[in-house]
Amino acid sequence: MTDKSLVKQKLENLVLPNAKRSITELNLVREISIDDAGVNVTLASTTMLPKLQDWLKKKVTETIKEINGVKEVNIKYCDCKTGELNNIKQTLAVMSGKGGVGKSLVTGLVAVALKKQGYQVGILDADITGPSIPKMFGVNSPPSGSDTGILPVVSETGIPLMSINLILPDEGEAVIWRGPMIANAIKQFHDDVLWGNLDYLVVDLPPGTADAPLTVMQSFPISGVIIVFTPQDLVDMIVKKALNMARKMDKKVLGVVENMSYLYVPELDKNIEIFGESRGETMSEAAKAPLLGQIPIDPELAKLCDAGSIEEYDGEVVRNLSEKLKQELSVQ
Ligand SMILES: Nc1ncnc2c1ncn2[C@@H]1O[C@H](COP(=O)(O)OP(=O)(O)OP(=O)(O)O)[C@@H](O)[C@H]1O
Ligand SMILES: [Mg+2]
Repeated sequence: MTDKSLVKQKLENLVLPNAKRSITELNLVREISIDDAGVNVTLASTTMLPKLQDWLKKKVTETIKEINGVKEVNIKYCDCKTGELNNIKQTLAVMSGKGGVGKSLVTGLVAVALKKQGYQVGILDADITGPSIPKMFGVNSPPSGSDTGILPVVSETGIPLMSINLILPDEGEAVIWRGPMIANAIKQFHDDVLWGNLDYLVVDLPPGTADAPLTVMQSFPISGVIIVFTPQDLVDMIVKKALNMARKMDKKVLGVVENMSYLYVPELDKNIEIFGESRGETMSEAAKAPLLGQIPIDPELAKLCDAGSIEEYDGEVVRNLSEKLKQELSVQ
């Protein structure tokens, strides 16, 4: 006798080609039942054009028929909204008091670190006027989907990404958008995109503490905020601004990350604090949140980001960040 868990297990390996993720990860398998007539499966048709639906129907039938004793397979499609299929356990937002401090880089590294630990991670680039996530991950193909939902583009190591950069052919185009258009686009990246099952969705917020990051904080169920700063930043100002915003929105500050902390000079075998003395501990105390990491200025890292290969970075920083995040997230 076939059981439902065996059927589900079989379907866990069935990858939807344009999503590069399995149909169970995407939550497309809605119901499995077994009766005298055979195995009955209900699939969500969300994001799929009719041709793809036909292909999947055939594939699912074939896959289930591989199970000993199964003769008949009945596949039915149902309409489901992306929101019903998205099961995101935690949404983490990366924020900074000002621009250019390495927020996108930290977003990328946080996602890479979590992915390395075996979590299902996605990245939502909420920086509409200065998107930089796709370039860092070397993705540039447009998202696919249908009028029922959009599929994110998946990176080399399997991180689904969504960014305005993937949709607009001209990178600078969104710069002229007005507030409400930006807010709508960001909302759609969350609500109309099929993220499926994710342990973490990491959101790269727009810089600063003005309207754009506020919109994101208001429209997403953010469970924790990570604040990025550099040793150059005035602790008081940055922390006050960023913390005020997080607190006003009633969001927990998960931790702080100091970027461009130091530069390692191999000839001297020494770390030089180019931008001034590290403020990691001071910032952590002021934010009443742990210091998750101190990232050095690393030409290798900059090179990998420019080449779209951030996922190849395997510095000590990623390992430390990974450990710290694991600690902090496990006590959530
Ligand atoms: N620790 C680092 N070592 C080397 N290069 C870095 C480091 N941090 C950031 N950079 C480089 O500096 C540039 C700015 O970083 P990033 O895009 O992450 O900043 P940002 O805070 O997201 O900027 P914006 O406010 O414009 O969104 C990038 O080209 C990035 O590769
Ligand atoms: Mg950025």
